[in-house]
Amino acid sequence: MSFDLSVFSNKNIILAVTGGIAAYKSAILVRRLKDFGFNVRVVMTHGAQAFITPLTFQALSGNPVHTALLDTEAEAGMGHIELARWADLVLVAPASCDTLAKFAAGLADDLLSTLYLATKAPVWVAPAMNQQMWAAKATQRNLNTLVEDGVHVIMPEAGSQACGDVGLGRMPEPEDLAEQVREYFHKAQRAIAEKFGLLAGKRVTITAGPTREAIDPVRYISNHSTGKMGFAIAAACYSAGAKVTLISGPVTLDTPNGVRRKNVSSAIQMLDLSMQQLQEGCDVFIATAAVADYRVAEVAEHKIKKAGDELAVSLVKNPDIVATIAQQEKRPFMVGFAAETRNVEEYAAAKLVNKKLDMIACNDVSRADIGFASDENAMIVFFADQYDMEKRDLEKASKQEIAQQLVEAIHDAITQQIKPV
Ligand code: C5P
Repeated sequence: MSFDLSVFSNKNIILAVTGGIAAYKSAILVRRLKDFGFNVRVVMTHGAQAFITPLTFQALSGNPVHTALLDTEAEAGMGHIELARWADLVLVAPASCDTLAKFAAGLADDLLSTLYLATKAPVWVAPAMNQQMWAAKATQRNLNTLVEDGVHVIMPEAGSQACGDVGLGRMPEPEDLAEQVREYFHKAQRAIAEKFGLLAGKRVTITAGPTREAIDPVRYISNHSTGKMGFAIAAACYSAGAKVTLISGPVTLDTPNGVRRKNVSSAIQMLDLSMQQLQEGCDVFIATAAVADYRVAEVAEHKIKKAGDELAVSLVKNPDIVATIAQQEKRPFMVGFAAETRNVEEYAAAKLVNKKLDMIACNDVSRADIGFASDENAMIVFFADQYDMEKRDLEKASKQEIAQQLVEAIHDAITQQIKPV
């Protein structure tokens, strides 16, 4: 079973637009919802069409716009009952006074009010109206009824209104509304992943990116690692229900949603934080970082001035982070990576043994189409002898897909009865 908590292409939103000047904001709302990957269908009331045309929403949503109840042509496509069943969420934005009153009274004299009664999906309303109409007793009474009926009310904001008044009644910005929808589905998916995901309840620590070893206050030794593979694995582990800590060297990537990130610069700092994670509790340790093998023996206190034709810098070996963690008494399930340019399988198998890993994923970085800066990768995964598991070939795919397959490999290994060594 796999869950991707950042992809909502399987979630259907009905955005119902009712009559009000805030309807123009709903056009942007469609865009933002589509950006998150949601499928969006727009329903418009008669009043809404006085403010904005169905064509606008059709173009933005990529779907026909629904405006009429019992229109023969529309009902032949997706009728009001199918539409009600299709929805995972009905968001009414802006919700006019009239619509709130209809919902509260249980009327069913147009498409939206009928849809409201016919759907099992959660219904959210974002009321937007003149501040006096918002404050009116009848409106407040209807809202209370809707809350009692289980409708989620997104409170309007205060500010200057299109009619010139100042007060409560403005629809929140489309970006805020879209974010609330994303957050809602994200939480729901996370709750499922935490219960049923492949790594449900597991604490995972991942090292990623390069390390930077200072020479003097302005110069350093580093490498070309972008951290993409490690970040993709962090996202996949989180989607699989794990609690994820990502210890990252300097990279330019955004932190995956839900992942706790700790930034480091040098290998020594990365080791310190990794040991700290072990103390705090760690079930799986995944070392994707391209740790610099050596650091400068003595970092100069001041910028080294240009002098002779040659400059010798003395280097000392960095600690091997993954091997150090693997030697600890209460060690987690250890996953290492091997980037090689030749004899890939042979070197990887040796590293599996020498570093005392449970699993190693290796790739051929001499191939220009995969690895380091690329968005794709291909890997071979080996398991330690005590696991009764064959090596796995992960064929060239996006780093996200490879990450998902690595999560499956980790799950398969940790749920196996291990043979005594
Ligand atoms: O020895 P090599 O660098 O090829 O091994 C690669 C694996 O070991 C990777 O999983 C890498 O993150 C890890 N490693 C480490 N600390 C080092 C060097 C490598 O954790 N100092």
